[in-house]
Amino acid sequence: MKSIVITGASEGIGAEMARQLARRHGAQLSLVLAARNEQALQAVATQCQASGAATLVVRTDVSEQAQCTALMDRTMARFGRIDALINNAGMSAQALFSDVKADDLGWYEQLMKINFWGSVWCTHAALPALKTTRGSIVAVSSLAGLVGVPGRTAYSATKFAMTGFFEALRAELKTAGVSVTTAYPGVVATQIRHRGFNAAGAPAGASGLKEDDAMSVEECARLIIEGMDRREREVVMTAKGKLARWLKLLAPGAVERMALAALKDEVKPR
Ligand SMILES: NC(=O)c1ccc[n+]([C@@H]2O[C@H](COP(=O)([O-])OP(=O)(O)OC[C@H]3O[C@@H](n4cnc5c(N)ncnc54)[C@H](OP(=O)(O)O)[C@@H]3O)[C@@H](O)[C@H]2O)c1
Repeated sequence: MKSIVITGASEGIGAEMARQLARRHGAQLSLVLAARNEQALQAVATQCQASGAATLVVRTDVSEQAQCTALMDRTMARFGRIDALINNAGMSAQALFSDVKADDLGWYEQLMKINFWGSVWCTHAALPALKTTRGSIVAVSSLAGLVGVPGRTAYSATKFAMTGFFEALRAELKTAGVSVTTAYPGVVATQIRHRGFNAAGAPAGASGLKEDDAMSVEECARLIIEGMDRREREVVMTAKGKLARWLKLLAPGAVERMALAALKDEVKPR
């Protein structure tokens, strides 16, 4: 029986990955669902149980190292193994750097704690178990972790940090047989941008990006799971994302123009 831990499993992409994994593996799967909203996690767990999966809900704030450690301890106590850890918990932010007051810069640190440190702490706590199963680590980064996105200095920084950390870790874990897959979604149709920080560190309440071509949550979750199953190094989503990555080396000005064009007019730098 496989045991998979998913952080940020109460909503969006994480919740959908849980449902899809439960449908694929049924009674052969133990799913550990972590996030802060326990009620929403229970609802996702009920959906996964309907497909036959065993579930454990662990209320976790990944911005606290002790809670990340406790998550893995509870997983081991209940299921005795970890075959995959999906570091998906994350928060967004939308603000031009020059609009952020000095006193408000604390949310930059908080975002780093959630997106970057949360992944580091969870991975560190799960690593001994993952080495035993020669398991898989997934890091859900973002295209903003490959290309700097205007209005997203904080978010891009957290996702670039994830990119570097997991690229180095991948090489370190080669001989241990633990795979590291970094996923780079583009714009996916979730509420993440509405919940993200604005310049003052309050919920933005709206998205600053044009979302007409947003990828569905179902497709994004499927692509990440397939990448994990194939032990791929990277899953770069969308043709634009794949192009931007290479174009950046040849014509960085063109990529900056593409990134600015993705912003709604009201949030563009003046
Ligand atoms: N949607 C996109 O367009 C997009 C694009 C690229 C990358 N991504 C990445 O994909 C991942 C999932 O995003 P999503 O779009 O599914 O967002 P979402 O719908 O807002 O879900 C985010 C999840 O992360 C959890 N979370 C947030 N802060 C947390 C904390 N401190 N501790 C534990 N869990 C926390 C939330 O649960 P609680 O609030 O219950 O804690 C929720 O389950 C994120 O890492 C995001 O950066 C998303």
